[in-house]
Amino acid sequence: MAEVTLQEVTKETLWSVMTLEVAEDQGHLVAPNSMSIAEAYFEPKAWFRAICADEAPVGFLMLFDDPDAPRYYLWRMMLAEGQQRKGYGTRALELLVEYVRSRPNATEIIVGAIPGEGSPQAFYERFGFVPTGEVKGGEVQLKLEL
Ligand SMILES: CC(C)(COP(=O)(O)OP(=O)(O)OC[C@H]1O[C@@H](n2cnc3c(N)ncnc32)[C@H](O)[C@@H]1OP(=O)(O)O)[C@@H](O)C(=O)NCCC(=O)NCCS
Repeated sequence: MAEVTLQEVTKETLWSVMTLEVAEDQGHLVAPNSMSIAEAYFEPKAWFRAICADEAPVGFLMLFDDPDAPRYYLWRMMLAEGQQRKGYGTRALELLVEYVRSRPNATEIIVGAIPGEGSPQAFYERFGFVPTGEVKGGEVQLKLEL
């Protein structure tokens, strides 16, 4: 498998990260990366990275990184169409967990998954996330204890 890293988005990689897209029938599951990066521009607690495989951007993730709270929210995550089911998402989550563990007060990561056809819920559960029983904004809430 290619080496997966989480890398800062730079002037050089911005365009390739923004143009990474999920499959057409997955569009309802995650916002386009360009929108996420625009949101991050106005949210000082947004921490985002390109998911790279052997240095090439193949996906994106964004965390709500609040050092004052024990809950860290995985706000966005995607692997581009054609780059899914290669183990990259799992490796990127491992790296994210490593990062969050290094942050102050961190005890858990929360993610919201849209249920139904193609839902990423099974992916998160396979990793160790557990449903909290809550549904917020139509998204099933899942928690990973650190
Ligand atoms: C969900 C997603 C991030 C997973 O990343 P990935 O690199 O494809 O995942 P991995 O290859 O590490 O998958 C590991 C296992 O998780 C499970 N899995 C992965 N994607 C899944 C999906 N969409 N539905 C159900 N199970 C899934 C599978 O069991 C898979 O193992 P397998 O391929 O041997 O069956 C990626 O598929 C994606 O971007 N999907 C569309 C956007 C999305 O749903 N983002 C999440 C928003 S919260």
